[in-house]
Amino acid sequence: MKILVTGSAGFIGFSLTKTLIKLGHTVIGIDNLNDYYDVALKLDRLKHLDKEEQNGRFIFLNIDLTNRNKIEKLFITEKFDIVVNLAAQAGVRYSIDNPHAYVDSNLVGFLNILEGCRHTNVKHLVYASSSSVYGMNTKQPFSTEDRVDFPISLYAATKKSNELMAHTYSHLYNIPTTGLRFFTVYGPMGRPDMAYFKFTKAILEGRPIDVYNNGDMKRDFTYIDDIIEGVIRVMENIPKSKDSIVSTAKAPYKIYNIGNNQPVTLRRFITAIEDACGVKAKENPLPMQAGDVPITYADIDDLITDTGFKPSTSIEDGIYKFVQWYIEYYKIINKRV
Ligand SMILES: NC(=O)c1ccc[n+]([C@@H]2O[C@H](COP(=O)([O-])OP(=O)(O)OC[C@H]3O[C@@H](n4cnc5c(N)ncnc54)[C@H](O)[C@@H]3O)[C@@H](O)[C@H]2O)c1
Repeated sequence: MKILVTGSAGFIGFSLTKTLIKLGHTVIGIDNLNDYYDVALKLDRLKHLDKEEQNGRFIFLNIDLTNRNKIEKLFITEKFDIVVNLAAQAGVRYSIDNPHAYVDSNLVGFLNILEGCRHTNVKHLVYASSSSVYGMNTKQPFSTEDRVDFPISLYAATKKSNELMAHTYSHLYNIPTTGLRFFTVYGPMGRPDMAYFKFTKAILEGRPIDVYNNGDMKRDFTYIDDIIEGVIRVMENIPKSKDSIVSTAKAPYKIYNIGNNQPVTLRRFITAIEDACGVKAKENPLPMQAGDVPITYADIDDLITDTGFKPSTSIEDGIYKFVQWYIEYYKIINKRV
């Protein structure tokens, strides 16, 4: 199949592209290579795909999702079978100072993707939502049937909006869409703005890490390989109109949680990093942050029923693989400079 992956220089987009090519698909990847975090890491991810580019299995295009003309032309020229939209302005805290980045990439950009799908008969649009749509939800585990009408960050509001926009297009134009609420994804080649990356860096450099609420929060950390397997299973599972149980509109529309289904305490997460680094962390204890939630916990019954897949990587195994990659990668980088 010919598949469009947006955000293909990003953490999840790159990992997905690699696997899709291995499975024999042709991938067109787009990304605007913005500097929200280290651009060199994005370029290094793309370097891993150089060989596939030479074999014609992968084409990378530096396109911004908000460029309406370019996106329109891309869809018309390439006629994708499946589209996986992972490009977005991620991060919760960054939205305080940069609200427009979220509206541009996550709303205007997503509309351009929906329009492309509408006019070129794409068979399935899979797009990234986020566990952050659950906001201050207190019911555990978080179910896709829970109300998610009260976002506590602009990032979450744009992700919830994506689900609403997708439902509209599924209903009006019969485009099968599946939204995936990812729960804290981590792993090799991951994101420098996330805690596991910052903690590893600080611990290896002998600097203290900021520990909120004595590490008593729980997170449903999900290893990248599990996320990729989940995305691919979902891609193959195209929703039909009759699948809709959420509304009488009967749109070919689905939402799934993809999380490990096993929340772990921040304390256990820190211990896993310390063990993998072979160094004890210096800690800077801080109170719980405003807007932080005590726990995230994914109910994945639907995902298991519909795709037969359940994530299985323990935090200790996943963090070990991340730290091994981190040590090797930055050693290589240090040699280069
Ligand atoms: N990593 C997680 O824990 C997590 C959790 C929940 C949801 N998500 C969602 O999953 C998706 C992928 O996340 P990720 O962790 O790989 O993030 P990432 O930031 O590594 O990847 C996103 C990529 O999209 C690109 N991009 C951003 N705006 C763009 C635009 N306007 N045009 C073209 N490219 C653009 C960025 O350059 C980046 O390479 C995002 O939608 C994110 O919101 C991620």
